[in-house]
Amino acid sequence: MNSKERGNAPGLLISFEGGEGSGKGTQVDRLSNYLRQIYGESNVIQTREPGGTEIGEQIRNVLVHGSSEMAPKAELMLFHAARAQSLYEIARPHLKQGHIVLYDRFLDSSIVYQGIARKLGTDFIEHQLTPFIVEDNMPDLTILFDIDAEQGLKNVFGRAQNNGETNRLDKESLAFHQAVNQGYRDIASRNPQRYAVVPYMHNGENATEMKVREIFNNLVERVGYRKP
Ligand code: TYD
Repeated sequence: MNSKERGNAPGLLISFEGGEGSGKGTQVDRLSNYLRQIYGESNVIQTREPGGTEIGEQIRNVLVHGSSEMAPKAELMLFHAARAQSLYEIARPHLKQGHIVLYDRFLDSSIVYQGIARKLGTDFIEHQLTPFIVEDNMPDLTILFDIDAEQGLKNVFGRAQNNGETNRLDKESLAFHQAVNQGYRDIASRNPQRYAVVPYMHNGENATEMKVREIFNNLVERVGYRKP
């Protein structure tokens, strides 16, 4: 159930997904800035997973910078603990007030990274854990920044040389990242009503930004969203 069907939570929840190096973070920032100009600062909330809350940032630290020996099931549960906190503190209160909530990564990251790439299986995560944690806060829209793993890793390690950061998951094998990217494509094709796929364009940040705005505007028209 998404926010329009909920009735008591008239905001919009939009998630952004993609493999490493897809340029997702830049696009979330740009859409967020654009929406703040249109709808007003206080009506647009941008957050990231894992993190965004004090408890979530502590969990993020363990997940992103912790030992590479973490048990896959421990990893799965920590991501969901951070998500539960984020929904409790951020998404639900803001959606109730009719705000637009933008998530840089959300439930599909767990299905793809832990379920598929870590091989924990998608069935339990998708059909039991996700509904338990997310309840009636399914995204109204998920935008997938689709990139090939080779290109994505080139971007990540190019960025790292220019002072960027890499994280524990960036350092996984090429096969791991290929599984992530293919996993996303499969989820998107199984959920065409929720997903919009934006293919990666080299040096195409501005064109991608315009595409993302267009996707957002189509959503607003479709669901009839109005700011509070
Ligand atoms: P981050 O630095 O935010 O990466 P990115 O810029 O690519 O979003 O690190 C988050 C990492 O956590 C990223 O590698 C994906 C991973 N992740 C999961 O494995 N499962 C999840 O449920 C979430 C939310 C993230």
